[in-house]
Amino acid sequence: MSGTDLPSNLLLSAVQVTEAAAIASWTMVGRGDEKEADRAAVEAMRDTLNQLEIQGRIVIGEGERDEAPMLFIGETLGKGVGPKIDIAVDPLEGTTLTAKAMANALAVMAWAPQGGMLNAPDTYMDKIAIGPGYPAGIIDLDKSPAENARAIAKAKGVKTSDITACVLDRPRHAEIIASLRAEGVRVYLISDGDVAGVINTTDPETGVDFYIGQGGAPEGVLACAALKCVGGQFQGRLVFRNADERARAARWGITDLDRKYDLHEIVKGDTIFAATGVTTGALLDGVKIESGMVKTHTLVMHSSSKVVREVRTKRPL
Ligand code: FBP
Repeated sequence: MSGTDLPSNLLLSAVQVTEAAAIASWTMVGRGDEKEADRAAVEAMRDTLNQLEIQGRIVIGEGERDEAPMLFIGETLGKGVGPKIDIAVDPLEGTTLTAKAMANALAVMAWAPQGGMLNAPDTYMDKIAIGPGYPAGIIDLDKSPAENARAIAKAKGVKTSDITACVLDRPRHAEIIASLRAEGVRVYLISDGDVAGVINTTDPETGVDFYIGQGGAPEGVLACAALKCVGGQFQGRLVFRNADERARAARWGITDLDRKYDLHEIVKGDTIFAATGVTTGALLDGVKIESGMVKTHTLVMHSSSKVVREVRTKRPL
């Protein structure tokens, strides 16, 4: 650890924040109201962050000041004393999953020392990710999905038919999916939630070898924070669909719009990543009520201390 790293005693504070957001949004599971589920998570996350002794600033949030009343980019949070922290939040990753009571919804947050994370605008990002244990540079966004799959299979010493790729189930990914299947690769389609999709590559139990496709840029930054803690590789390139999105990027100082970022350019130094399950999924159990107690399941990780902790909390309803 170095003097600029985040102190390890912040880990439990981070847990408090994602737990609060998960419990708040859980009240909206299966109620068909994505906006209200998200609003509940945002409010709980903001209230909890404001109780902490940090000098926090949102760098990845619910949008810019004019479009988000809370957790907007640039909003300062915390009691105004303590470490200066840049905060990336996705209070409810999987609003649709929550509204439809489907698996894998999470409350997610990452922290970094000030200036330590890419200020990614709220656009899409082309992403490719792999878990730890591979030679550096094995994945490349500029190579075809099939070429990437072949490189991974070779490094693993298996056939491409033994490789599984996780892809968001979207029409825009039809070509990627077809080319992977033509190569013999198994495609594990997810309906939402690509932060968990990327994290799945780090856990052999999920059977997922790599993640590929286009999803939210904010989710890309959060996934990088997780990979920074457990190891792995990631490349991302921002995708701009119109002049407004390009203008947003310019406001955050991004001048090279075609730049390919790697993990360590997106999350530069130390980071803390926390996620609490809202609904049960491959990564975490969801919120449960049992005998008058609320039970939560959280994953919290810290890159400089290499701590990976699973926290199960029970509190009175
Ligand atoms: P939200 O729940 O925040 O809406 O995000 C869910 C999600 O599936 C992300 O995980 C993913 O990055 C993004 O949406 C993909 O966007 P789209 O649904 O527009 O393809």
